[in-house]
Parts: sequence; C-alpha cells; structure tokens
Amino acid sequence: MLQFEQSLQVENITHIYTSPGKESTTALVNITLSFPRTDRWTIIGPSGCGKTSLLLLLAGLLFPSSGRIHFNNRIIRSPQPEISLLLQDYGLFPWKTVLDNALFGLALKRTIKLADINRVLAILELLGIREQQHKHTHELSGGQRQRVALARTLALEPKYLLMDEPFSALDALTREQLQDLLLNLWKIFHFTIIFVTHNIEEAVFMGNNIIILSPAPGRVAHTITNISPGGLARNSAEFHERCTEVRSLLEGSGKI
Ligand SMILES: Nc1ncnc2c1ncn2[C@@H]1O[C@H](COP(=O)(O)OP(=O)(O)OP(=O)(O)O)[C@@H](O)[C@H]1O
Ligand SMILES: [Mg+2]
Repeated sequence: MLQFEQSLQVENITHIYTSPGKESTTALVNITLSFPRTDRWTIIGPSGCGKTSLLLLLAGLLFPSSGRIHFNNRIIRSPQPEISLLLQDYGLFPWKTVLDNALFGLALKRTIKLADINRVLAILELLGIREQQHKHTHELSGGQRQRVALARTLALEPKYLLMDEPFSALDALTREQLQDLLLNLWKIFHFTIIFVTHNIEEAVFMGNNIIILSPAPGRVAHTITNISPGGLARNSAEFHERCTEVRSLLEGSGKI
C-alpha cells in the first residue's frame, strides 16, 4: 500500500460543479500533485482555471467529483485541523478587536486560556501588530488587516497553510514586506505553504516549487523546481531569469 505520511497528496482529481437546472462547469481535470511537509509551493494560472477550487478541495471544503486527496494516509472528506485556508478577503469581524479576531479560530475550538492569549500576543508581536491589539479592523491598513488574518491562522498552528492570493489587494511595497514576513514565519513555524497567486514575481519569490495550471478547465501544465540556497534575491539576475522562464511557460499554456 502507498504511504502518505505527513504529506498531502492529490491523486488524479477532476472537479465538476453541478447544480440542478444549471449547466455544469468542469473546474479541474486529472490533477495529480504531491505536497511534502515543510515545502513552499506556489500555484499560478489564468483566471478561472480552478486555483481557488483546488485550495477548497485541499482544505476539505469541497469533495472532488473523482479522484482522491490523501492526508496522513487518510482520504480527506472534511476540513482537517492541520490544514488552514487563508482567503483573500481576510474574513475579519469589524466589531472585534485585533486580539479577539486573532483569537477567533482558537475560540471556536476551545475555551481560551491565558496561555493562548500570550501565545497569540507573541504571534502579533512577530507580525508587527501587537501594538494594534485593541484596535478594530476599520482602524487598520490593508497590510495590517492581512497580518491579523495571518495571526488568526497561525494561532491554529497549521501544518499546511493554504493561501488564496493573500496579498493581491496590497500595494507593491506592502506586498513585498508581507512576502518577506511570510518567509520568515515559514522558517520559524515550519508549515508547508501552498500559495495561489496571479503574480509571476510573487510565484518565483515565494515558491521553491511552482505549479503552472493550464487555462480552464485547469490541468497541471508544468511543475518547476525553484530551489536556490539562501533564496533568490528580487534584484538578482537568477530571479529575473526564473521569472522570464515562468512567463514564457504561462504564455505557452494560456494568458494569465
Ligand atoms: N460554486 C461554484 N459553482 C459553479 N461553478 C463554480 C463555482 N465556483 C467556481 N466555479 C467555476 O469553476 C471554475 C474555476 O473557478 P475558480 O474560482 O476555482 O478559478 P480561479 O482559478 O480561482 O479563478 P481566479 O483567478 O479568477 O480567482 C470557473 O469556471 C468558475 O466559474
Ligand atoms: Mg480564485
């Protein structure tokens, strides 16, 4: 029997959305992927090619029409505590403070203890927003809101962190700051990142593996290994070369 310990495996999934009285939509076709622990993956592809659908399937929020997703040797049929999905719109509650928003995911699971509060405050500190802990979300910038959403996810201590274009609404500088921050968090927490983006530079900077999906319905067009000792500096020749390579592969498989 195949062993899938500590790893997320997608085995030949096809996903078709159906609803009574409506035409069905094929979102993904014959996807087979393997996401070993502590790696960083980026997924890039044209709008509508099924990127969000793939994350929803990995998060156990959708069940594939055919094929299977395995986590720790079990088929995923529902959300798993070790796998967290961070959506693009932050999902914060405007009537809660930064600290209460960051504690919210944990509070759904158990009664919050002082140790939880201290741990979440330490996460807010790491994210540079501890001083904002008593503020409400309308008093925060977009970058700060995204940090709160990240804090709430990190409080759950995920082994897999799935992110759907998390920084796409931010200006270029804030976006780069958050990319750097996420890489530093990755070094501390050792989660596996699966990061969806439309942005080629972001895909190359964030992923040590890059998956390129074809235009809808999404298929895996290319998987690129992007590992470099010490990471790629944004202004290095190697970084630009990798971006050019990804751009030409994307153009070969359809526009983003
Ligand atoms: N709940 C749904 N019911 C029916 N069709 C859906 C549903 N969600 C998504 N789709 C369709 O599935 C396809 C893939 O959608 P998905 O949101 O996964 O794409 P995406 O790659 O994330 O796109 P974008 O880059 O624009 O966010 C699209 O054709 C979309 O219209
Ligand atoms: Mg999407």
